[in-house]
Amino acid sequence: MLGGHLLHGGDYNPEQWLDCPEILEEDIRLMKEAGVNCVTLGVFSWAVLEPEEGVYDFDWLEEIIDNLGDAGIQVILATPSGAMPHWMTQKYPEVMQVRADGRRNLPGKRHNFCYTSPVMQEKTRAVDEALSRRFGRKENVILWHLSNELAGNFGDGACHCSLCQSAFREWLKEKYGTLDALNHAWWGRFWSHVYTDWEQIHSPAPHGETTVTGLELDWRRFVTDQISDFCGMERRAVAKHSDLPATTNFMDTFKNIDYNRLQKELDVVSWDNYPFWHKEKDEVPVAVQSAFNHSMMRAMKKKPFLLMESAPSVINWRNNNPVKRPGMHMLSSMQAVAHGSDSVQYFQWRKGRGSYEKFHGAVLDHKNRSDTRTFREVAEVGKRLPGLEKILDGTVNRPEAAVIFDWANWWAVEDTTGPRLDLDYPKYVMEHYRAFWEQGIEADIVDMDADLSGYRLVSAPLNYMYKAGWPEKVRAFVESGGTFVTTFFSGMADETDLCFTGQHPLEDVLGIVQEEIDAPSQEFENQFAYNGTEYPARRMCEIDHAKEGTEVLSSYERDFYAGCPVVTHNTFGKGAAYYLAAESDTEFLRAFYRDVFGSTGLKNALGTELPYGVTVTKRTCADPALADGAAEKTGYGDVVFVMNFRNEPVCVDGIGKWTDAENGAVCEGKLELEAFQCAVLVEQDK
Ligand code: GLA
Ligand code: ZN
Repeated sequence: MLGGHLLHGGDYNPEQWLDCPEILEEDIRLMKEAGVNCVTLGVFSWAVLEPEEGVYDFDWLEEIIDNLGDAGIQVILATPSGAMPHWMTQKYPEVMQVRADGRRNLPGKRHNFCYTSPVMQEKTRAVDEALSRRFGRKENVILWHLSNELAGNFGDGACHCSLCQSAFREWLKEKYGTLDALNHAWWGRFWSHVYTDWEQIHSPAPHGETTVTGLELDWRRFVTDQISDFCGMERRAVAKHSDLPATTNFMDTFKNIDYNRLQKELDVVSWDNYPFWHKEKDEVPVAVQSAFNHSMMRAMKKKPFLLMESAPSVINWRNNNPVKRPGMHMLSSMQAVAHGSDSVQYFQWRKGRGSYEKFHGAVLDHKNRSDTRTFREVAEVGKRLPGLEKILDGTVNRPEAAVIFDWANWWAVEDTTGPRLDLDYPKYVMEHYRAFWEQGIEADIVDMDADLSGYRLVSAPLNYMYKAGWPEKVRAFVESGGTFVTTFFSGMADETDLCFTGQHPLEDVLGIVQEEIDAPSQEFENQFAYNGTEYPARRMCEIDHAKEGTEVLSSYERDFYAGCPVVTHNTFGKGAAYYLAAESDTEFLRAFYRDVFGSTGLKNALGTELPYGVTVTKRTCADPALADGAAEKTGYGDVVFVMNFRNEPVCVDGIGKWTDAENGAVCEGKLELEAFQCAVLVEQDK
């Protein structure tokens, strides 16, 4: 456990209050009261850390770090590249990004620097190394926080300046070697888009090229590499005088960067979670989305991650920003821990008085008081976490199922013209994941590069692109006993977005032959029966035929393709593959996966049917070799989190004998949960 604790705290920006020493003192007193044991300093502090070019002023920071240290509070120290000081943009305008339309940004905002600019790199490296020299071995500094939410600004998050264009061309030369190879991969003879000189290649632009999907894909890959390289440069800079681990804060399923690539530069994965709680009375869709993201962050390193930011109460950037209703703060904090986080950190400790985020929620309001509901609910989390440290230390979730979410597939499938232009890949994958969540079947969210060997079930919805090696991996997985689920519009194109010819790469495994894809208008919706219940087939209806030996579980019932398969099951080697030829609805996915979980022997951690709105997760000893010894190590075995996302009490029936890890109460047969409650259970007698 990083820093020896479940971390509790968040972004702290004392540079906004340097002329108010009484506020800084009060902060520390109130942090203790709120059970804060870790704060993140320096995220956007460049103008104060380096007020003039090459002149560093770190004394104020050292004093604050020391005062925090005296109070037993640890520090995550950020590098300041998230926002550039005005002296820099004035003197070196080339550090500012050029947008896709060719206009260079004016100074201001944040997250908008050119990743290629040698000046930007040099200035960042210099301040990072100076921070490393001064603070890299300080006792209460535990982690480097590199930059902030990389690429989190305009449009595609990329810089299209001439330096970046050249870097892109170099990247392409490295990848393809020759223009012939590039022209083939991008299918250049279509519309006479053959490049005869590397200099002719330009990044995608609204007033230029937007139709060559191979170019779009490679540009996104290049931007990911470029940002990852920048982050790697910062990683090396802070390592100059320091052995501390490093992270950068991710957002959720964020289209601009492939986080599975970026995470390779980091020791610890962390992310910022701002779910739209109370968007509607039914919290399930939002809980599912948040669980999905947590599970993806955890699965990147198969290690605990850090929840780096979350809102203590409101945020300020949606059209309507509901306050967290009583109980939701605790539940959403526990949800992160339940899915593998070793922290609950906030944006932010104290509201600033002015500018853009003055109405963004914080632990402390402008009125500087602790007698507020927000403060009390934060302090409750601060009181609760230390009690869980012992049983969670060294544990992580180790699901036996995985859902594939792959950035390159995302870019490609949403970029492709036809059969629909409104495909929302994350939404579609999350609809599948929802069935897992509702039934308490944990899943890792991984991409096509993942090792599948530890899973019993892998689901790959809308798996349009097959990366090199993926079909072979899936075939081997199924052959050796795994169950694979996939859907319509899968296995269409290779990594460069060239369609497969001949046959579907997994035709033998799936047992179906694709013919056409209908994207019917509403009036032409089809339907099918699954296990005796009728469900809609809509939006995407693939017209396939089953190969001999494939079991057809459902068929279209209407129209000229009545009788064609919608749900199929094919055994292959020791395993099986299911194919869903049409898009349906939540009820169908729920019923379908219930059967899939049954046939693969997957059960939730309580081994019982869960009421609507309730889910469970399990953290278990991280080292499989020690797993059976976990009980000896911690005094407990697996730790099970039971979360009720309904704003009313519920009862979970049919459970065995469990002990509440926090109050020692024994429950047997049933567990009563209050509205928005999360219970933490360990097996009885352990
Ligand atoms: C992001 C940023 C923070 C802050 C919050 C507001 O997560 O990293 O600096 O702006 O959003 O929700
Ligand atoms: Zn640039």
